[in-house]
Amino acid sequence: MTAETRPRYAHLTGWGRYAPAGVLTNADLERMVDTSDEWIVSRTGIRERRVAAAHETTASMAAVAALRAIAVAGIKPEDVDLILLATLTPDYWMPATAALVKEAIGNTKATAMDLAAACSGFVYGYATAQAYITSGMAKHVVVIGAELLTRFLDYTDRNTCILFGDGAGAVVLSASDEPGGGLGIELTTEPQGAYMIWLPSGGSKSPPSAATIARGEHFIRMEGRETYRFATRTLATTALAAIEHAGLQPDDISLIIPHQANVRIIEAVAKGLDLSMDRMFVNVDRYGNTSAASIPIALAEAANSGRIKVGDRIVIVAFGAGFTSGAVAIQWTADPVRGALGDAVSPDSVHVRPPVDWDSVDPIPDALAEILARPGRVPLDLSNVVPGEPEPAAHPALR
Ligand code: ACO
Repeated sequence: MTAETRPRYAHLTGWGRYAPAGVLTNADLERMVDTSDEWIVSRTGIRERRVAAAHETTASMAAVAALRAIAVAGIKPEDVDLILLATLTPDYWMPATAALVKEAIGNTKATAMDLAAACSGFVYGYATAQAYITSGMAKHVVVIGAELLTRFLDYTDRNTCILFGDGAGAVVLSASDEPGGGLGIELTTEPQGAYMIWLPSGGSKSPPSAATIARGEHFIRMEGRETYRFATRTLATTALAAIEHAGLQPDDISLIIPHQANVRIIEAVAKGLDLSMDRMFVNVDRYGNTSAASIPIALAEAANSGRIKVGDRIVIVAFGAGFTSGAVAIQWTADPVRGALGDAVSPDSVHVRPPVDWDSVDPIPDALAEILARPGRVPLDLSNVVPGEPEPAAHPALR
């Protein structure tokens, strides 16, 4: 492919999401740690988060979201040249979870790889996909953000266990010569924040052992205040840089889709960009922080709920461990009505091949299994993988 024949644009042509059926409410967490619904809502905006069932994995959730995005894009799984899966909770250290997703969606030709940039992972993946397309190396790319965080949380640590949830979202980017798609990209990495959010053991520096497990080093650790400071300092400036690279002004942006970590952080982004909260998409109340999955889940919900129309300029912007941040200013070109095509993909029809002669122990943390099974709480069928559509919480700060 020569410079003359290379596509100049990467349009966002498909989007999809998958949310597991299990719901963990603030009331459930009140029974697990010393916290309150009032504290969690006022400090974070979170009311509930989703919990994957025992038979679900990052790969299985990712595959459903990817197939939905592929259906919306109007292509076949076999048309995909590259699968990029952003996650900090892969099924295994190896192989890449993206390889399992490739098989599960029925694709034989794509390059498939995982991408690690924590909560910024999906935005980093989006930028990488755009680079592949505009260099002529791929025509259709699936970018997925998928996380199963509830298996890496210490349910005795109220600083972290209230924040995170499970889920997956995906987009398809497709080559085009017509203007549109990602117009401006900004990515940053600030390693001085490397140990502000981290998972100490399991890597080569500290391989897993009885001792590391006894010390709880297989759980996510976080310096909340430092992370909050980084997020409020960085998100607006990263978004602004992407908007400027696109030759636009903040007022040209009809909707900002920020990483859903905390509604107070989202309010700070709105203030930093001098935009009103009605231009910020918020669903953190229903999912908590799903890390790399948060933006693609939010983007799919925004498109399907009529918040985006053809010609709109939107911005996706994230921050996360690393410290990382990233933003893309996107010109929307797809008919949002196509979002309904994703509904045809049933989670029951998607299977990730398990290993031969090996099975995991029950993956659900004991404290979580116990609370989810407790009588008196809203009945929860952990074998049910059909995603529900909960009503948005009617919190004034969130709507
Ligand atoms: N319930 C009740 N009290 C709590 C809870 C809880 N769940 N958690 C902490 N507290 C207490 C603290 O112990 C502290 O008590 P103290 O004053 O007696 O020490 C008090 O509440 C205030 O704690 P702060 O940390 O100052 O609370 P803050 O208002 O900063 O809110 C929060 C904490 C929500 C964690 C906030 O700092 C935050 O959102 N930080 C960003 C976190 C984030 O987004 N992380 C994801 C990063 S993305 C990624 O890559 C994974």
